[in-house]
Amino acid sequence: MTFPPPPLVVPDVVLHAAAWTDVDGAEEDPQGAAAVNVGGTAHVAGLSVPLVYFSTDYVFDGHKREPYLESDPPNPQSAYARSKLHGEAAAGERAWIVRSSGLFAPTGTNFVRTMLELGAERGEVAVVDDQRTAPTYALHLAQATRGLLDRPFGVYHLAADGDCTWAEFAAAIFEEAGIGCRVRPITTKDLGRPAPRPAYSVLRSEKDAPRLPHWREGLRACLDRLR
Ligand SMILES: NC(=O)c1ccc[n+]([C@@H]2O[C@H](COP(=O)([O-])OP(=O)(O)OC[C@H]3O[C@@H](n4cnc5c(N)ncnc54)[C@H](OP(=O)(O)O)[C@@H]3O)[C@@H](O)[C@H]2O)c1
Repeated sequence: MTFPPPPLVVPDVVLHAAAWTDVDGAEEDPQGAAAVNVGGTAHVAGLSVPLVYFSTDYVFDGHKREPYLESDPPNPQSAYARSKLHGEAAAGERAWIVRSSGLFAPTGTNFVRTMLELGAERGEVAVVDDQRTAPTYALHLAQATRGLLDRPFGVYHLAADGDCTWAEFAAAIFEEAGIGCRVRPITTKDLGRPAPRPAYSVLRSEKDAPRLPHWREGLRACLDRLR
């Protein structure tokens, strides 16, 4: 019988943010998304180390018109969202499940960086105005996640304060960055993406979770870093 070699380092906690995040691509390959988001999470949970699993506002169907709380029943509408919800279960008992929304940062591919690029090239961009969420600055999420580690394991909603549509967020990005690009509001139907998205996915915590600053404060902090 052969045994795997012991790990060189036993971490105190694992921050598991890796995921299949191609929401539309998951509709074409739900098994691929599940392999990463469920199977991958099960592998990480197999380390038997306390785990932070980053999950998503998309686990909700978006039918509510007031913020989703941890006790609200999930009802995922897309293959990506189903895989993330099953990933929550795969994270096991010794896990903090962190649901967040609309992440942006000075690095990586995200809505803020995409808008800055498009705004520099074009006089107008078309952006959906019928999906309401709370765009969350990754640094604020990281700080709140640090604060969570003193709390019991379980599901927590950690998202920016306030809410807006993606069109409102795009307009705020151009305003804060001093870019003279117009935002043309369109509908989700106009955009015609394969995967459904919740029309409303604002998250709030009914637990003693760390509070995050308002999304506009996050946007200003992100733009400061980019400058
Ligand atoms: N973006 C959002 O608005 C949002 C909202 C709520 C929750 N979340 C969750 O937050 C987390 C981070 O999201 P993000 O937008 O920052 O994601 P991202 O930019 O797409 O990054 C995902 C990371 O996962 C890695 N990854 C993908 N498949 C992998 C595999 N099979 N093995 C190892 N690594 C793999 C990628 O590695 P490579 O770079 O090598 O491809 C990448 O570094 C995810 O769990 C996501 O579900 C995101």
